[in-house]
Amino acid sequence: MAKNLIIYYSRKGENYWNGSIKNIAKGNTEIVAEFIQKAVGGDLFEVDTVKPYSTDYTTCTQEAQRELRAGARPELKKYLDNIEDYDNIFVCGPCWWGQAPKIMYTFVESCNLSGKTVIPFCTSGSSSIGTSAKNLQAAAASQATWLDGRRFAGSSPRSDVENWISGLGI
Ligand SMILES: Cc1cc2nc3c(=O)[nH]c(=O)nc-3n(C[C@H](O)[C@H](O)[C@H](O)COP(=O)(O)O)c2cc1C
Repeated sequence: MAKNLIIYYSRKGENYWNGSIKNIAKGNTEIVAEFIQKAVGGDLFEVDTVKPYSTDYTTCTQEAQRELRAGARPELKKYLDNIEDYDNIFVCGPCWWGQAPKIMYTFVESCNLSGKTVIPFCTSGSSSIGTSAKNLQAAAASQATWLDGRRFAGSSPRSDVENWISGLGI
């Protein structure tokens, strides 16, 4: 039976949720990542930065904009050392300025995804997944099979996630 890994980055604090900025105790992407785990089983791995992003929404958008312009690779608190144990890797994060946060680039470049099936998804206020999954795939530069990316609203119900998973054929 295929083994699933759901890796995610998700930020607590002020964020867009259901059309307005709220202070959220659990990040939107983390909630969807947990729905995925309930649907397919497997392990969760939280990607986290050594230097935390601001919990203030506007300040965080400025930090993210600086990282985007600089092509930054923020340092991770921990790295995954057993990716060979898994077949399907869900790569999950928020949409920041239309792209995956730079921390997701640090992650995909730090591990060997060759031979894996990678399933990217993001949560966003309103933006589509756009080029974000394709750009992340290009950075990963490994012989993995990347499925089409999927975007969810932060407030998406569990049933939406289950319907998506059941159509993936994994
Ligand atoms: C730095 C930053 C940039 C964002 N950029 C976008 C964006 O370009 N488009 C969009 O629809 N939402 C944007 N958002 C909203 C988030 O994508 C949305 O709230 C997401 O669900 C947050 O996920 P998280 O709680 O897991 O971090 C941005 C939020 C932040 C903090």
